[in-house]
Amino acid sequence: MIVAIDGPAGSGKGTVTKLIAKRMGLINLDTGATYRCVALETLRRGLTVEDKQKIIDLVDDLDIEFEYENDDIKVFLNGEEVTSEIRNMEVTKIVSQVSSIVPVRLKMVELQRRMAKGKDVIMEGRDIGTYVFPNADVKIYLDANVEERAKRRFKENQEKGIEGSFEEILENIKLRDENDKNKEVGALKVADDAIIVDSSKLTIEEMTNRVEEIIKERK
Ligand code: DC
Repeated sequence: MIVAIDGPAGSGKGTVTKLIAKRMGLINLDTGATYRCVALETLRRGLTVEDKQKIIDLVDDLDIEFEYENDDIKVFLNGEEVTSEIRNMEVTKIVSQVSSIVPVRLKMVELQRRMAKGKDVIMEGRDIGTYVFPNADVKIYLDANVEERAKRRFKENQEKGIEGSFEEILENIKLRDENDKNKEVGALKVADDAIIVDSSKLTIEEMTNRVEEIIKERK
């Protein structure tokens, strides 16, 4: 079974996916983390988003793996744990542009499909229901207004000790929204058969219950 959860940054995808995976015994695949690994390696090699060909080439050197420990996903890049590092502001600033490079996307999509093969998964991203798994069993598009999303991300970052002011986060989210919606391949959009859940005024519990209900109805 494949459950696709798409939506913009801060819409609650990560939180809901994690909770639903636990409640319903599904494997949680965070596709954004795969692009974040490419962005991290780009920075580590001293490259910028302008160095497109070099970024395309470096993807072949990457071994990205997820490990599951209790309820947490740990992300490994070439054997090194990078779970926190891929969330830092430097990575967050360039990840949308890195993920717009078509050959990078094609390789990451291939990896994401491989990771899901033969498993019951809940996958979160931007293009899961439209591109990665257009035949997903359940498609949900989570949304929320941009100020609310920035507020959530700011709070989450503060809790995790990740730097960045509220204004910086709001600006970054607006830029990423714009970039993510205008991608050549795998743009952020609502799949025709997706159910839209607006989480702006919902608590985490309400949002998770609503998503669980939809999955159960469709199953
Ligand atoms: O969900 P996130 O913030 O970790 O995602 C990081 C970036 O990766 C986001 O700005 C867009 C990109 N992304 C994507 O293009 N396609 C996906 N399926 C997931 C993420």
